[in-house]
Amino acid sequence: MATLGQTTISPAQELRTIIVTGASSGIGAYCARALKAEGWRVFATARKPEDIAALETDGIEAFYLDYREPNSIEALVASVLERTGGRLDGLFNNGAYAQPGAVEDLPVAALREQFEANFFGWHDLTRRIVPVMRRQGHGRLVHCSSILGLTPVRFRGAYSASKHALEGLMLCMHQELQGSGIHVSLIEPGPVTSKIASNALFWFLRNIDHENSAHRLDYEAQLARLRAGGSISSLKPGPEVVHAALRHALLSRRPRPHYVVTVPAKIGVMLKRLLPASALYRMLAKRA
Ligand SMILES: NC(=O)c1ccc[n+]([C@@H]2O[C@H](COP(=O)([O-])OP(=O)(O)OC[C@H]3O[C@@H](n4cnc5c(N)ncnc54)[C@H](OP(=O)(O)O)[C@@H]3O)[C@@H](O)[C@H]2O)c1
Repeated sequence: MATLGQTTISPAQELRTIIVTGASSGIGAYCARALKAEGWRVFATARKPEDIAALETDGIEAFYLDYREPNSIEALVASVLERTGGRLDGLFNNGAYAQPGAVEDLPVAALREQFEANFFGWHDLTRRIVPVMRRQGHGRLVHCSSILGLTPVRFRGAYSASKHALEGLMLCMHQELQGSGIHVSLIEPGPVTSKIASNALFWFLRNIDHENSAHRLDYEAQLARLRAGGSISSLKPGPEVVHAALRHALLSRRPRPHYVVTVPAKIGVMLKRLLPASALYRMLAKRA
């Protein structure tokens, strides 16, 4: 038996439960609300008090989480499990940021911080949830990776490395959990409207000495792109495309290990299969 608000309900009546991280904007904000509208009991995370308040206004149970702070991960899991009576059906690891800049210009501390947020924190939260799912005999672990986790693109080394690492780690877990009733899926979006570019501008200006870089001229195009809100593409959809993949990963009897989302991401995967590596990297190097 578990308590939902003031009402004690039996397991058969319980709502499906999920943690959605990074729900202050973009993909997480959309998916948290869409899942709530579809009948899920959503535990969403954000960092700023006003973002937590906005989620609560929409009837979502909201918590503070910063993946760089292990204490906040521990506190989130304790609070959620207390409310669900120790159960959880889904985890959507989503909160992350992009640290732009050429690899040679990346301070080591900036690369470490990127991995704390995009990789180590995701591992920590996931391994705290796996025992819960093992006890109940089912669960869905869904991770928002990126096309840049499959195909690296210049000036995105830190972000791309964090997503490649995520792909490697979670695909091992996918195999290790076979037969457990727990499924692991990676969603690999291409460009989707969100605040990722404006947030990346902050990290670029904070950590990259762009005026003294050998890449100074290229960075001007990079800065213009980030200031304009990211890649300028008529093919850029909204976060609903990621939500559609997430729904499949959560509800399908046969969730897929990979969900490549958006036309540019699908083209990227196809080119990686078809082109010799040197030709592919030459082509990618021409991108701003
Ligand atoms: N949009 C795209 O084109 C695209 C493409 C491929 C993959 N993705 C992936 O999609 C996911 C969501 O990104 P988005 O596009 O929706 O970007 P977004 O609008 O910038 O949202 C990112 C979310 O992550 C949170 N976050 C950042 N650092 C965090 C940390 N250290 N701990 C916990 N949460 C943190 C942000 O919180 P604050 O508001 O507090 O900073 C925000 O809620 C990310 O994993 C990203 O890599 C996005």
